Amino acid sequence: MKKVCLSCLLIALCLSLCACGAPDAVRGRVDDELIVVGFSQVGAESDWRNANTKSMLAAFSPENGYRLILDDAQQKQEKQITALRNFINQGVDYIVLAPTTEKGWDTVLSEVKAAGIPVIIVDRMIEVNDTDLFTCWIGSDFRKEGDTAVHWLEDRMGGASVRIAHLQGSLGSSAQIGRTEGLDEGLKRNETWSLVFRQSGDFTQAKGQELVQALLASGEDFDVIYSENDNMAYGAIDALKEAGRIPGRDVTILSFDASSAALHLILAGEISLDVECNPLHGPRVRSIIEQLRQGNVPPKYTYVDETFFDASTLTEDIISSRGY
Ligand code: AHR
Repeated sequence: MKKVCLSCLLIALCLSLCACGAPDAVRGRVDDELIVVGFSQVGAESDWRNANTKSMLAAFSPENGYRLILDDAQQKQEKQITALRNFINQGVDYIVLAPTTEKGWDTVLSEVKAAGIPVIIVDRMIEVNDTDLFTCWIGSDFRKEGDTAVHWLEDRMGGASVRIAHLQGSLGSSAQIGRTEGLDEGLKRNETWSLVFRQSGDFTQAKGQELVQALLASGEDFDVIYSENDNMAYGAIDALKEAGRIPGRDVTILSFDASSAALHLILAGEISLDVECNPLHGPRVRSIIEQLRQGNVPPKYTYVDETFFDASTLTEDIISSRGY
């Protein structure tokens, strides 16, 4: 009887310890010796971002030997800084940071470095005074993506006069900076092109729609929408349709990400070009961590290979063979 009561007491103690918030990281280590990774994610602003989160969760699963502590920063850098400090307090083994913006990381990353936690930057780049503040980076060449879109437009439009409406992503993020630089170079090279509108839609569908509604209401005419991601392009398409304009016929839409829904819109003739931005970083980041655990030094910077899609080559088979 005494034995039964003692067991009950122990079980109750364990349950109450779990319930009253022993940090996940600590619990993971005690329970199952998992490697604990704190992942500070930008948010859930786009299909791309959701595919990226899914890829990280699948790669860093308990079955693979990991516990992933995911923090959604709702597109706010302050929240990411807080998350990084929480990861230090939780004693995680590694930190993965998908940064909102390029600047403003020096202080918090110095704190992480002092705590001896390796940091892997994923997707967008950061700009810090000392590159030893992070172990390595893996992501996209956003400037190259912008150049790809602009070269496609040059091939299509030749020397014709083109009025461009530009929906920018979140200002200060590498994805916005690189894609905007590509367009700015194109505008310099092509005297017949003009920029009639430029504003940030923060990579969201709702803001993309609002911006194009406002543009249409202003009476300014345009031939091309250069949308720095697919979700803003979806919003733009909705706004055009509401106004009785036919996307793809009345307005040429260029977009970035190449998520599955957008590729279907290429087949439907509504989006003309989509430049790939690959979100499937989970296995790549895991491979970096595995290299580090084996005592190897991964490359400091790794750019993923990316392509582009238009109606001349895209098929249903290509879309269904892709992971997002
Ligand atoms: O940093 C990648 C960009 O961020 C993607 O283009 C966009 O959809 C996302 O929100």
